[in-house]
Amino acid sequence: MTTALASAPALRIGPIELDAPVVLAPMAGITNTAFRRLCREYGAGLYVSEMITSRALVERNATTMRLIQHHESETPRSIQLYGVDPTTIAEAVRILVAEDRADHIDLNFGCPVPKVTRKGGGAALPWKLELFGEIVRGAVRAAGDVPLTIKMRKGIDTDHLTYLDAGRIAEDAGVAAIALHARTAAEFYSGQADWSAITALKSAVMSVPVLGNGDIWSADDAVRMMAETGCDGVVVGRGCLGRPWLFGDLANALAPDRTPTAQGVDATLGFVARAFRRHAELLVDFFEDEGRGCRDIRKHVAWYFKGYPVGGETRAQLATASTLAEIDELLATMELDAPYPGAAAEGQRGRAGTPKRPALPDGWLESRELGAEASCALADAELDHSGG
Ligand SMILES: Cc1cc2nc3c(=O)[nH]c(=O)nc-3n(C[C@H](O)[C@H](O)[C@H](O)COP(=O)(O)O)c2cc1C
Repeated sequence: MTTALASAPALRIGPIELDAPVVLAPMAGITNTAFRRLCREYGAGLYVSEMITSRALVERNATTMRLIQHHESETPRSIQLYGVDPTTIAEAVRILVAEDRADHIDLNFGCPVPKVTRKGGGAALPWKLELFGEIVRGAVRAAGDVPLTIKMRKGIDTDHLTYLDAGRIAEDAGVAAIALHARTAAEFYSGQADWSAITALKSAVMSVPVLGNGDIWSADDAVRMMAETGCDGVVVGRGCLGRPWLFGDLANALAPDRTPTAQGVDATLGFVARAFRRHAELLVDFFEDEGRGCRDIRKHVAWYFKGYPVGGETRAQLATASTLAEIDELLATMELDAPYPGAAAEGQRGRAGTPKRPALPDGWLESRELGAEASCALADAELDHSGG
């Protein structure tokens, strides 16, 4: 049962008005046009692209230029950028704006991956306050009327928290919203997100919306996060893996005045199979290649059918199917009227992992200023590819 929040406001991000305070979290390798379109078909809110590397965009790398494309049904169009160099990031933002390629731009300061933090990028970067401020101010200026937001973690580890300083700097720089994944980089995806940090950020940042992120697995979790933390909206990542209809549940719970949207509460296996089939078809469309689309849907099989009576053999065959016709045949063999299995289909999915000491450049934590050594590490921190 989902408890509707009495008068949840819709969310405003700069000039963008959303009719539900819900954002699809950027997820590399997942939130491509196909998945965003699918989620949007069920719900309301903002659907962010997978991470795009500023340098690759400035260099007009072919894969990156394809990843920033949106389908005509996608509005507002939202793109997340990663980078470490203020000039390159500002240039990437300018390209998106000048060429009318985005209605919203988000900057990623939350990546915990060692190959990124080792060079001072991602979640390591806000530790260097001046650099962080320079990046955000430059990006906001370059964005002009297009709202620019940031997404960050609590910090590097519990002894090196950055989110309150970074939140205030970003607010002063003129961002349109601030999203917090309430874990440190050291926590990776382990344990439980610390929603009290979202409450603390909400008290520190008064003039722009604060979006809470971490461990929303159901509409009830989203309602609870908003009530407990006072955040202005929720960002949902792993909870929607294999259940794009969660965006229907979220919209119905958080924006009850809207016309209700199709939802997955009590989803039969037939309902799930239809969503899976639609996802596969949209991936084929996105890649413009049936084999590639059918290969990409494989990573979603376990998430869609979690808890449903689908045998190991069928799952394995779905994970090797290379045409939509093969997928259709396999789906037709399922007990499509099997009911929603309850708890077995719920709960955690996707990355979890164990806490790790974050990899950082030598001497990174000794000062919050960017010294010569740290500058050298950063020069190498640009990634040259986008997505996952
Ligand atoms: C597969 C995967 C890829 C991700 N890629 C990105 C990314 O490109 N940019 C980003 O800011 N966060 C990325 N994240 C983090 C999510 O946006 C989100 O902050 C995190 O999963 C916590 O939210 P959740 O508990 O709702 O999943 C990724 C997470 C996962 C699981």
